[in-house]
Amino acid sequence: MSVFNDAINNFLLPVKDLLDDDTVTEIMMNGPFEVFVERRGLLYKVPNKFRDGEALFTAVRAIAQSVGRLVDDDNPTLDARLPDGSRIHAVLPPMSKGGLSVAIRKFSREKLTLKDLINFGSLSPVAARFLDICIYLSKNIIVSGGTGSGKTTLLNVLGSRVPKEQRLLVIEDAAELQIHGNHVLYFETRKEDPQRGITEVTIRDLVISAMRLRPDRIIVGEVRGVEALDLIQVMNTGHDGSMGTVHANNPLECCTRIETLCLMGDVKIPPDAIRKMVGSAMQIIVQCSRYHDGGRRISHVSEILGVDDKGNYRSRDIFRWIQTGKDPETGNFKGEMVPCNYIPSFFDDIVVNKLPFPKNNFLTPEWALKIIKSVS
Ligand SMILES: Nc1ncnc2c1ncn2[C@@H]1O[C@H](COP(=O)(O)OP(=O)(O)OP(=O)(O)O)[C@@H](O)[C@H]1O
Ligand SMILES: [Mg+2]
Repeated sequence: MSVFNDAINNFLLPVKDLLDDDTVTEIMMNGPFEVFVERRGLLYKVPNKFRDGEALFTAVRAIAQSVGRLVDDDNPTLDARLPDGSRIHAVLPPMSKGGLSVAIRKFSREKLTLKDLINFGSLSPVAARFLDICIYLSKNIIVSGGTGSGKTTLLNVLGSRVPKEQRLLVIEDAAELQIHGNHVLYFETRKEDPQRGITEVTIRDLVISAMRLRPDRIIVGEVRGVEALDLIQVMNTGHDGSMGTVHANNPLECCTRIETLCLMGDVKIPPDAIRKMVGSAMQIIVQCSRYHDGGRRISHVSEILGVDDKGNYRSRDIFRWIQTGKDPETGNFKGEMVPCNYIPSFFDDIVVNKLPFPKNNFLTPEWALKIIKSVS
């Protein structure tokens, strides 16, 4: 494990087997004596233990130091990215009441591809082709989902499908995306550190700069603050095909979330106008969900059609994942992603551009008609 230097490796000896194990995607330490891991989306308790609270704290402090950060009474939380891209978050006691809590999200060297997502059953081949078309047609796409639902993974996959000659500007809090393209520029925010005279550079600052760097498309890794308004403006002002991820549990909530974030800043635009801007900027929402069987799937691909007379967002599902059963042996959900009998408003663009995607790809199969009707 080359992520950590030897000293840190020594401190992390009690969990070394987990760090080396590629099937483990996340390691969680709830105080020194309780360790859980995530494998294939599910949590398991493992027997690993640290000697005592001090031993765990020493390990965390060494990791923090290796990336130029401090953890102590004045800095009781640590949010850091390790050189290999793994992410660590720690909260010290007494804020963390059961002792020092640490979670390490391991960076997977193998970046998942659209094919992988199809093989995992996270997405149907037809829906995958449809998303490809949306990217080709420069639709604005928001990937929505809960924590750890696969948003960043999907954004990475979608970003890599952008036509190679386009200029892509990628903005993140902590560099995580690795987009395959010929012309991709990455930007990362900076945290303020008054003691060292370092000022803050926010996502918002970077979005504003990116606009002046002649982007074809702007990708914001995670929209979670006032930069939402800038992204909406980017999307509404000719940089079609921009993308981002948002924390939300379904496509409509995603619109409301973006709206709330837009209003958090010191904006002079009335809320009604913001809602209209959000409604027209967002075109496709891809909803990632983590299901109880541990599977991460795309639960909805939806089109946003602006706001209605009453000011409600209008959304139509184009594809949905439907559970049809459960494997009695593995406990894995059985199901399928099905089209929802809705032809997207931009179908003519698909035809005009001679893209091979016939209309009947949007038709719900007979067996799923009742289910689709009952959920929509
Ligand atoms: N479709 C998928 N099938 C299986 N595993 C997946 C899938 N998508 C993502 N993963 C795995 O799930 C984990 C979390 O993925 P990812 O970081 O993309 O989620 P996220 O929603 O961006 O999380 P966060 O909310 O913390 O930013 C990673 O280990 C990733 O490899
Ligand atoms: Mg993410």
